[in-house]
Amino acid sequence: MDYNFSKNFIEFEDLSPEEMRAFNSILNNIYRQRGIDFRQYRPKCLRRRIVVGMHEANVESFCAYLDFLNKNPQQYDKLLDRITINVSEFFRNPKTFKAIREKVIPAIVERKENIAGYNIRIWSAGCATGEEPYSLAILFKEALQKLGQNSKINIIATDIDKNALRKAKIGCYGVKALKGLKASQIAAYFDKDNDNYCIKHQIKVMVKFMDYNMISDQLPRAVDLILCRNVIIYFNKELQNKVYANFYNALASSGFLVAGKTESLMDIKEELFAKVDIGERILQKRTKRKSNNENI
Ligand SMILES: C[S@@+](CC[C@H](N)C(=O)[O-])C[C@H]1O[C@@H](n2cnc3c(N)ncnc32)[C@H](O)[C@@H]1O
Repeated sequence: MDYNFSKNFIEFEDLSPEEMRAFNSILNNIYRQRGIDFRQYRPKCLRRRIVVGMHEANVESFCAYLDFLNKNPQQYDKLLDRITINVSEFFRNPKTFKAIREKVIPAIVERKENIAGYNIRIWSAGCATGEEPYSLAILFKEALQKLGQNSKINIIATDIDKNALRKAKIGCYGVKALKGLKASQIAAYFDKDNDNYCIKHQIKVMVKFMDYNMISDQLPRAVDLILCRNVIIYFNKELQNKVYANFYNALASSGFLVAGKTESLMDIKEELFAKVDIGERILQKRTKRKSNNENI
């Protein structure tokens, strides 16, 4: 499980060899203990977040921080929290959800309408504390009701951060987290529990949370819609391309992919995805034809 230090060894011009070795050892230890490989995340982002951890520990060098972490191994959890920032909110970027309602949902329904007893499969990749998949559950429930459809909706919500997933599964949020919801939605889909608002069972059962690394774990299959927002921005170009190719394979024929507002679509391969709404970062899988004319 050890890093091959000659391969993908992160380098910074301003750091001494000892400091660089300590920086890479911190990543190596995370990999050994938690199985998460951050080497292909953008080095500057990683460094910024590790430096925040250093300041919290009151140390001024990566060597001293490595020493501190090794003497206090439970602090690796805190560092992991720093690296995997889980900021999220209900209906984050409302225009994106509007575009999904108007452009994506009718297309999925139209394509599946003739398949008896079909399920709609959705993947929220990098779901953090659950606001995104629960927003999708509410959006689809309301939109399908309007369309007179009662198809089953299965939302797979995945993240590498176990603490975030724990919170997501509980599904209780403070009032501040609800600012993107209408009063009627809060009344319909949440139960008040002291100062918290907890997602009702009817929405909870639509979402299945899983501890899952989108880089290395086996992919869900035949998904109609993937949302992966504010995650890929942290990956280097090579990893971004790998993840977009993974999403291509995970999508059903003509399935949709929604990236985050922070993510550039510049490097997306035109032969894999058609752009449906560039502003809202909505793409659609192109169906390639094999030489024998079979769809893949
Ligand atoms: C900023 S949050 C985004 C939450 C939500 N998608 C949104 O836009 O509101 C980024 C999440 O991606 C997760 N993440 C980072 N790398 C990941 C990976 N390789 N596989 C799965 N999740 C990952 C982090 O743990 C974090 O919870």
